[in-house]
Amino acid sequence: MANKPEVTGFHEPRTGSIQYVLADPATRRCAIIDPVLDFDACSGATATRSADAILDHVRERGLRVDWIIDTHPHADHLSAAGYLKDRTGAPTVTGARVVAVQRIWKRIYGLDETFPADGSQWDRLLADGDRITVGELGVEAMLCPGHTLASITLVSGDAAFIHDTLFMPDSGTARADFPGGDAAALWRSIGRILTLPDATRLFTGHDYRPQGRSAAWESTVAEQRATNRHLQAATDEAAFVALRTARDQTLPMPGLMLLALQVNIAGGRLPPPDAEGRRHLRLPLDALPGAGWR
Ligand SMILES: [Fe+2]
Repeated sequence: MANKPEVTGFHEPRTGSIQYVLADPATRRCAIIDPVLDFDACSGATATRSADAILDHVRERGLRVDWIIDTHPHADHLSAAGYLKDRTGAPTVTGARVVAVQRIWKRIYGLDETFPADGSQWDRLLADGDRITVGELGVEAMLCPGHTLASITLVSGDAAFIHDTLFMPDSGTARADFPGGDAAALWRSIGRILTLPDATRLFTGHDYRPQGRSAAWESTVAEQRATNRHLQAATDEAAFVALRTARDQTLPMPGLMLLALQVNIAGGRLPPPDAEGRRHLRLPLDALPGAGWR
């Protein structure tokens, strides 16, 4: 099996998300990871520019899409998984524990029995250690909860897609205060990622360009161990939980969280249209005790 996937990152500047194409150079097969559906909350407008740019890349490179993967139900952007499935016919994938996230948010949104909290919105659910293939590349799921209950890291050869665990070393780590989040679990997930070989290429899920530097998304296990600012500041679980908790208490909820999760727990599908053909998102009020007035 090949062990050097070709990885292309696409930075989405509005939300600081990194979308990836993981390709097998031998077979020209690929997977799309964490694609963004463009959304402007002020106007309610959606667009597919980011996803279409990925499809352009796929076409230009002569690739064929085998999988569309979300590493976790995102709180900061809408997933384009549903759109890309419609465009490519490729099956969608996420972590098996998404079912637990669906249960939490189904209650928050007051969804009825027409919304099954059983993961059936995806074609494939990956539990810890499950493998899929992209051409001749193996891709293994590593359960990495903390930021969400369901987050999975995808390990393929010398590359790992680590989503919202570690950011670039100068940015530290992801927050762990959303419903189902857990700073101690995040610490242990980061510990698992850092057991990968030193030279493993780590591809993060977000970059917010601290100090106005250019967007960046690739590091290595060795670099993270040596220079990640949160791992430098907190060297054991208790210290990390204290650091993470204190920092999270200063952060507002992501602007799109309540709008995005209802789409993302539905496999990146917008709600069905009404009789007029219009789609509506729900905005639950006072659903997050303690949030909003920090
Ligand atoms: Fe996230």
